[in-house]
Amino acid sequence: MARRKPIVIAHRGASGYLPEHTLAAKALAHGMGADFLEQDVVLTKDEVPIVLHDFYLEGTTNVARKFTGRQREDGHFYAMDFTLAEIRTLAVHERRVKAGGNEFHPAYPDRFPVDIALFRIPTLAEEIELIEGLNKSRGREAGLYIEFKSVYRHRAQGLDLVGAVMNVLDRYDLADKPERVFLQCFDDATLKHLKHERKCKLPLVQLIGDNAWGEDSEVDYSFLRSGEGLDYIATYADGIGPWLSHIYLGTDSEGNPVLDDLVNGAQGRGLLVHPYTFRRDALPPGMDSFEQLLALFFDTLAVDGLFTDFPDLAVEYLQSRSTGE
Ligand code: G3P
Ligand code: CA
Repeated sequence: MARRKPIVIAHRGASGYLPEHTLAAKALAHGMGADFLEQDVVLTKDEVPIVLHDFYLEGTTNVARKFTGRQREDGHFYAMDFTLAEIRTLAVHERRVKAGGNEFHPAYPDRFPVDIALFRIPTLAEEIELIEGLNKSRGREAGLYIEFKSVYRHRAQGLDLVGAVMNVLDRYDLADKPERVFLQCFDDATLKHLKHERKCKLPLVQLIGDNAWGEDSEVDYSFLRSGEGLDYIATYADGIGPWLSHIYLGTDSEGNPVLDDLVNGAQGRGLLVHPYTFRRDALPPGMDSFEQLLALFFDTLAVDGLFTDFPDLAVEYLQSRSTGE
């Protein structure tokens, strides 16, 4: 795919400042000048695509209090067990993680207060309308960057996530707008289905995780990072979305960054490279500042874009680079 200026992808919106995947976080990211706004998408029980990172509701909403007893045996409140009408009654807050027993604490202590729950889970359609509206009122186009989450687990429940999302894109006339929408997935078979069976016109990005994470796919991520794996990806995708820690491997004894050759390998095969996730408040070991991390990826490695919770900082970094400040 043709290279252009690197893009800034607002990871779950401007999620460093407002609870992830809320319309507020997306509006803020738009205002900050992000090029693309990310949507992780799952289905409700009545098969409506909603914008939610987890397969479960308890990490970012008050579902446990509101729908006590509706969790499955594994303790999770599955989004697909709730209708859209039920999901609309939930309040969204900043992400919390289990601290042991029944205790929770903020996943990122310096972010938006976890006890303020002003927000709702948007549908994909609502989010598209927000972005289209802001594109018009601000006179600046931000695109969508949609991830199909847990396609296999949806299918196991008889739910067609890909079909439901593509129907929404069709409805908003976006399914044939490759400059406006990226599609991403950790699962290679889903991307191949989009490319070969659905003849999808949108750019497809193969996310590359770590085998230890137990992603919802049978793909071997170690293989995907190899030369042979990149050859394989290039047969169906336009880019890769690798974990930044598979590229920046830490520092050597003199404090210099140790880098994997994945970016070169992918770009040499014509693939775009959009690594994730760049967080000012969760720097990888050996990095002293967020700016240093951005410089390494934008300047030394020359990635084609990146996912960040802090889109303003990435936009400012690229602007200062282009004006030489
Ligand atoms: O989609 C890129 C990046 O967001 C992948 O990680 O878990 O935040 O969806 P995750
Ligand atoms: Ca994602």
